[in-house]
Amino acid sequence: GTIYVLNGPNLNLLGKRQPEIYGSETLADVEAAAISQAKTHGLDVNFLQSNAEYQLIDWIHEAREKAVAIVINPAAYTHTSVAILDALNTFEGPVIEVHISNVHKREEFRHHSFVSLRADGVIAGCGTQGYLLAIDRIARLTACEN
Ligand code: DQA
Repeated sequence: GTIYVLNGPNLNLLGKRQPEIYGSETLADVEAAAISQAKTHGLDVNFLQSNAEYQLIDWIHEAREKAVAIVINPAAYTHTSVAILDALNTFEGPVIEVHISNVHKREEFRHHSFVSLRADGVIAGCGTQGYLLAIDRIARLTACEN
């Protein structure tokens, strides 16, 4: 099976963007780590990033046919997007929400997540390791089907 790993706005600048908050690893580094972690579970990864809300929604729709699970870091859309929540509600497999930083330690507006109303699990504040933890969780959740 394939896990869609979706990344929202500004995450293309990971490694350059506020490294004191988000660390120095690039999104390409995270992609490589995610692919090899999934491989240990016999799973594939389709790792995607967009700054556009509609593109993330289109990928969630595509995942309905092509993915066994979704890992999503919706970035700032976490806190604003009913449309991404609605799209995730059309997906039947497991959804894990990831935030690199601990959003609960930060500004009040980052404490609320629309996506958490759908997510089966939420990982925040574990750095980019959060993506790998999410993949391990999905391997566990999908084990009975594999
Ligand atoms: C983030 C946290 C969000 O609040 C922020 O808008 C991001 C990244 C994280 O991974 O910590 O862009 O999702």
